Amino acid sequence: MTGLDTTVPHSARRYNYWLGGKDNFEADRHSGDAIAERWPDIITAARENRLFLRRSVRYAVRHVGVRQFLDIGTGLPTADNTHQVAQAIDPFCRILYVDNDPLVLTHARALLTSTPEGGCAYLEGDVRVPEKILEDPALQETLDLSQPVVLMLVAVMHFVSDADDPYRVVATLLDALPSGSLLVLSHASYDLIPAEQAARLIEEDYPGKEGFHSRTRAEVSAFFEGLRLLGQPGPAGGGSRRPGLISEWRRGPEDGQVPPRSAVSTWGGVGRKP
Ligand SMILES: C[S@@+](CC[C@H](N)C(=O)[O-])C[C@H]1O[C@@H](n2cnc3c(N)ncnc32)[C@H](O)[C@@H]1O
Repeated sequence: MTGLDTTVPHSARRYNYWLGGKDNFEADRHSGDAIAERWPDIITAARENRLFLRRSVRYAVRHVGVRQFLDIGTGLPTADNTHQVAQAIDPFCRILYVDNDPLVLTHARALLTSTPEGGCAYLEGDVRVPEKILEDPALQETLDLSQPVVLMLVAVMHFVSDADDPYRVVATLLDALPSGSLLVLSHASYDLIPAEQAARLIEEDYPGKEGFHSRTRAEVSAFFEGLRLLGQPGPAGGGSRRPGLISEWRRGPEDGQVPPRSAVSTWGGVGRKP
């Protein structure tokens, strides 16, 4: 496997560690512990993020009728991956998984297997270079871009710095998708965590700090510019103009007890391209 450096913490493997998985190395666990020491609710936030992913995929297939997914920042396979949730409702769903961690791609190829009716493909790609993802033949082979696609950017854009122009990244990807396509995006934030924890996360040095970029609710809202937010209650039933807390987005009884807002501190939503 080329490009795999197990001595440097990686977001996919650290997330796997927080979720109780086994696909992680000493450097990932060390970084995961250092972050959790300063942000003890990060594990609750990670679990809530998975529940949001599951609810949003179900909603896209069942309520909006979109059956194609471009899932960038796939993560190491765990329970309820995008294609499993989607194909359980409609086995004809098609998914292109994209990640920049070679370990994710190796595991994904082995474990993320499609129904015979639908399709799953995997691409090693970097969300910061969206043009390369869009030009890859795997995209055209897997997805029909004349039909709506769900662009999944779940817990990935907080790894993209302002220097890499995250808003241009999302706009470039959405521009390539037809009307009726959806953006599913979640993004961790220091907005709701206690001030002294946020201060430690910002001021102290610890492994994994440099790759993470917290954004405020207003900054996360800007990813949804020009889209209509779906599935969110708003004033007078008109829908909210801003993404909300992921734990509150169409939560169902199967998702368990609602955690405190400060424990989640992750903004997200589902937006539809007009
Ligand atoms: C926190 S995990 C989220 C996984 C999954 N989307 C979820 O929400 O459960 C972040 C994923 O994004 C991937 N990632 C981080 N930076 C990336 C980049 N620049 N391009 C593509 N993938 C990236 C990591 O390898 C990891 O698999």
